[in-house]
Amino acid sequence: MSAEKTENLDWLNQRFPLAKTWRAHVAEYYAPKNMGFWSIFGSLALLTLVLQIVTGIWLAMSYKPSSAEAFASIEYIMRDVDWGWLIRYMHSTGASAFFILIYLHMFRGLMWGSYRKPRELLWMIGLVLYLVMMATAFFGYLLPWGQMSYWGAQVIVNLFAAVPGIGEDLSVWVRGDYVISDATLNRFFAFHFLLPFVLAALVFLHIVALHHVGSSNPDGIEIKKGPKGNRWDENAPADGVPFHPYYTVKDLVGVAIFLALFSLVLFYAPTMGGLFLEAPNFQPANPLQTPEHIAPVWYFTPYYAMLRAVPPMWGSQFPGVVVMFGAILIMFLLPWLDRSPVKSIRYKGPIFKAALGIFAVTFVVLAWLGMRPASDLSTLLSQIFTVLYFAFFLLMPIYSSLDKTKPVPERVTS
Ligand code: HEM
Repeated sequence: MSAEKTENLDWLNQRFPLAKTWRAHVAEYYAPKNMGFWSIFGSLALLTLVLQIVTGIWLAMSYKPSSAEAFASIEYIMRDVDWGWLIRYMHSTGASAFFILIYLHMFRGLMWGSYRKPRELLWMIGLVLYLVMMATAFFGYLLPWGQMSYWGAQVIVNLFAAVPGIGEDLSVWVRGDYVISDATLNRFFAFHFLLPFVLAALVFLHIVALHHVGSSNPDGIEIKKGPKGNRWDENAPADGVPFHPYYTVKDLVGVAIFLALFSLVLFYAPTMGGLFLEAPNFQPANPLQTPEHIAPVWYFTPYYAMLRAVPPMWGSQFPGVVVMFGAILIMFLLPWLDRSPVKSIRYKGPIFKAALGIFAVTFVVLAWLGMRPASDLSTLLSQIFTVLYFAFFLLMPIYSSLDKTKPVPERVTS
C-alpha cells in the first residue's frame, strides 16, 4: 500500500474503528475449518437481501402505488422501461430464491443443532428475520394489483376477522377499508418499502450474535472451548481459520454457482410455471370476480395447508389461524425441546435422523397440499401432515433423550 494511502487510513482509523472491525469480524474472525457446503446459505441469503433492496428501489422509481395505476405501471416497467423486465423478474424470482436459501439455511440449523446453547438467541433472531421476511413478501405480492394479489390479500386479511371480539374492527383497521382497496395498497407499499431495512438491521444483530458465540460446524463442537493456537495466532482456537481469505473465497465460489443457477431461472423460467408468479396475477384485479382457486405463493403454502386442515369452530376460522401461527412460533422453543446430549445430526441416533427426515418430507408435502384446490382427500392429508409437523417438535423432548447417540470427538474432523 502506498505511503499516502496508509496515511489516509491512519487518519480514518484514529477516528473510526475501520481496521479494528475488519480484523475482529473478517481477517481475524476464526471460523471452524470444517464448515463445508451447508454454511454457504447465510451469505447467499445476505446477497439476495441486497439484490432485493437494489432491484426494489429501481422498481419503485416507475411503480405507481394506486389501485387505478398499479397494474399498468408494472406492465410499463415490463415493456417500456429500459431493462425493466429484468429488474422486475430479478425481484420476483429473487423473492423465491430468498425463501429457498432461507429454508436451506434453517434446515442446516436443524442438522447441526445450531439452535442449541449458546446460539439460542441467534436462532431466535433468525426466526424474527423469517417472520419479517414473510410479512415483506406478503405486502409485496399485493403491489402488482393482479387477481391473485387482490384475492390472496383478501383471504389473509380476512383471517384477522376471526380473532374473537375485536376481529371485525381489527381487519378493517388493517385494510383501512371494508375490502382490499386503494388505501390498503398504499399502506402495503409503505410497509413493503420499510421492512427490508428492518431486515438489514436484524441481519446486523444476527451477525453480532453469531460473532459473539462463534460459528458452529457439522461436528457440533465448540472450537472456542478446544485447544488454542493456530498458525496465525497463538490465542485463537486451534481448529479455526481466518474468515478472510478462507471463507470469503469459498463463499465467492458459492456466489458464482448461485448466480449461474439464478440466471438460468431468470432467463428461461422466470415465473417457474406459475410457482413464483401465479398465472391469475397477469390479469388486473377484479373485485367482482373471484378466481376459481386462490392459493398463496409456494413459500407460504405449508402454513396455508395447516390453516385449511383445521375445521372451523362455531363458524370461526380462529383455531386454524392459531395452528398456522403456532407452527412458526413453536420453532422459538426448539433450543429447549432438544434434550440430546449431542448437537449435530452426525452424532445423533437413528430416531432423530428419522424424525428430521420425516419433518422435511412433511414440510414439502404440506407445501404441495397448500397449492392444491381443497378437496376431502387433501383436507384429510393436510390434517395428517399437520399432526406430523407438530409431533416433530412436541415429541422431541422424549425422542431426543431416548435416542442412542455416538461419542463426539475431542477435535473437529476434516
Ligand atoms: C435475512 C435472512 C437471514 C440472513 C441474511 C442470515 C445470514 C446469516 C449468516 C451470514 C450467517 C453466518 C454464515 C452461516 O453460518 O450460514 C448465519 C448464521 C446463522 N443463522 Fe442466519 N440468516 C438469516 C435468517 C436466518 C433464519 C430464518 C434462521 C433460523 C431461524 C437463522 C439461523 C442462523 C443460525 C442458527 C446461524 C448460526 C449457524 C451456526 O454457526 O451453526 N438465520 N446467518
